[in-house]
This record gives sequence, C-alpha cells and structure tokens, in this order.
Amino acid sequence: MWRKQLAALALQAKVNLKVEKRVRQPIEVMGDEAQLYRMVYNLVSNAIDYTPPGGEVAIALEKESPYAAIRVRDTGIGIAEEDRSRIFDRFYRVDAHRSRHQGGSGLGLPISRAIARLHNGKIEVESEVGRGSTFTVYLPLR
Ligand SMILES: Nc1ncnc2c1ncn2[C@@H]1O[C@H](COP(=O)(O)OP(=O)(O)OP(=O)(O)O)[C@@H](O)[C@H]1O
Ligand SMILES: [Mg+2]
Repeated sequence: MWRKQLAALALQAKVNLKVEKRVRQPIEVMGDEAQLYRMVYNLVSNAIDYTPPGGEVAIALEKESPYAAIRVRDTGIGIAEEDRSRIFDRFYRVDAHRSRHQGGSGLGLPISRAIARLHNGKIEVESEVGRGSTFTVYLPLR
C-alpha cells in the first residue's frame, strides 16, 4: 500500500521513482513491520517533496554486513552542512519557503530516527546543496 502511495506522490511531483534491489538473496531484519514501513515512507516522501520536477529518487537495498542498508537517494535541493545535524530535531525545517512541501510539521525525520534506533539501527545523511541527498538506514541483519 505504501508503495502505491509513494508512486502516486512521485507521479504528482513529476519525479521519477525507482527501486534498485542489489541483493541476490532475500534480506531479513527483525522488527515491527508497520514502523519500518513508516520510517522508509518518511524518507522517500521527503526525497520526493524536496526534489524539483524532472528529478529522480532511487531506493536501493544492499547487504553491508552486519547491516541491511536501505538507501534513499534524490537529485533534489540538498541540505546545507549546518542544517544536516539539525534536521533530526523535532519541528526543525529548513527554510520552508523554498520547498514545495509547505504543510510539513518537521516530525518525519525525528520519527524515522527513533524507529531506526528502536531497531538497533541508525540513519546517516550525505548531501550537497543543489545536487541532492542520500539518506541511509542501517538495520542489523537477522
Ligand atoms: N531529501 C531531502 N532533501 C532536502 N531537504 C530535506 C530532505 N529531507 C528532509 N529535508 C529537510 O529536513 C527538514 C525536516 O524533515 P522532516 O521530514 O522531519 O519534516 P518535514 O518534511 O518538513 O515535515 P513532515 O513532518 O511532514 O515530514 C525538512 O523540512 C527539509 O527542510
Ligand atoms: Mg518529511
């Protein structure tokens, strides 16, 4: 269901959404399925929200022992270094006027980070202003 919702968001935003599975065998992680979907949903919807039309969002799954890595990469507006440490704070939003996503509450990332931590995982971000961002979730392999 979440996949359909994200496809609809991407279509509306004129952003190309693709999924790259770079694993031969199924990857297993332990956890609360609904929470893990929520976490990924938050990251992918951000990627779509903060990417101008014509851009691309790619979701990749990789095995990086001892972790499963879920990588959400976009070609969007990017996040300045000084903001990168703050975007996981509750209610923090970067210059809301520039983005398409106006109604946000600034809770998506803090919730995602909390879910990752509850599963003994973590979220890392790399970004370049004007080029795009990559958020990677690491979850311990089962
Ligand atoms: N992929 C991204 N590219 C650029 N900026 C981003 C990206 N993801 C998050 N941000 C920045 O981090 C801020 C916080 O993100 P977060 O998901 O917590 O809140 P939000 O998207 O503003 O609101 P919501 O509660 O609806 O998710 C965003 O407002 C945006 O400025
Ligand atoms: Mg968000």
